[in-house]
Amino acid sequence: MRLLFVANWKMNPGSVREAVVLWNATKKYARKMRKTSVVVCPPTPFIAPCATKSEGLVFLGAQDVSIFPNGAHTGEVSGNMLKDMHVRYVIVGHSERRALGETNEIVSRKAQATLVAGLTPIVCVGERERGEHGEHLELIETQVKESLRGVSKAKVLKVIIAYEPLWAIGKTSAHAMSPADIHETTLFIRKILSKMYGRTVGMSVPILYGGSVENSNIFAIVHDGAVQGVLVGHASLVAKNVSDMLTALEKAQ
Ligand code: 13P
Repeated sequence: MRLLFVANWKMNPGSVREAVVLWNATKKYARKMRKTSVVVCPPTPFIAPCATKSEGLVFLGAQDVSIFPNGAHTGEVSGNMLKDMHVRYVIVGHSERRALGETNEIVSRKAQATLVAGLTPIVCVGERERGEHGEHLELIETQVKESLRGVSKAKVLKVIIAYEPLWAIGKTSAHAMSPADIHETTLFIRKILSKMYGRTVGMSVPILYGGSVENSNIFAIVHDGAVQGVLVGHASLVAKNVSDMLTALEKAQ
């Protein structure tokens, strides 16, 4: 399987001009990759200026989606609208959206809405802090189970899980989770998925890591953390970093 590099621009950059420059640079680097697929998730207003039919293995993603297919829902954007703008992936249940009140139930409805539109949901889970007695594992288990409620065994093969421990987000590589801990936690997530959907499916769903992934730690995270890719925030906003991180990913496979 190809590794996945997902750039989550969050509410950046500040202008459409900068967004298009960054998108074009990212596309240029991504096209040189042989073993890595790239997904860029701009803020919603910048999707249209970046939207061209996906080229090669560079895709557009969205940072959120409505639970509704259409209708009187002010401020909402449907999966079909995103699809029409050549979006292929949708981040759902990011911790920054959960912090605004998004529950596991809403996340599961968003994951389903994404699948119904024929797009790939990247379902985010992750603990706020690690408990000494493994309390965080219970929380992750509940998040995985409830966020995927209603997603059938056939459909879950189209889902990507992103494990993003909140305490590691938005810092520097020194604060990221260690590759060994990432590996251990993803194995735990695979165990939950296996209980829900059977071992074959549980072992097949791609799991990404996110949280202070930078040039200096991306290789070890993918190589030793045994994840199928990364979800990158701040480091994905600098074109040179994107180039260096993609080169490291190619070497890690
Ligand atoms: P940072 O890479 O800035 O820590 O952000 C991680 C993240 O939240 C990606 O979705």
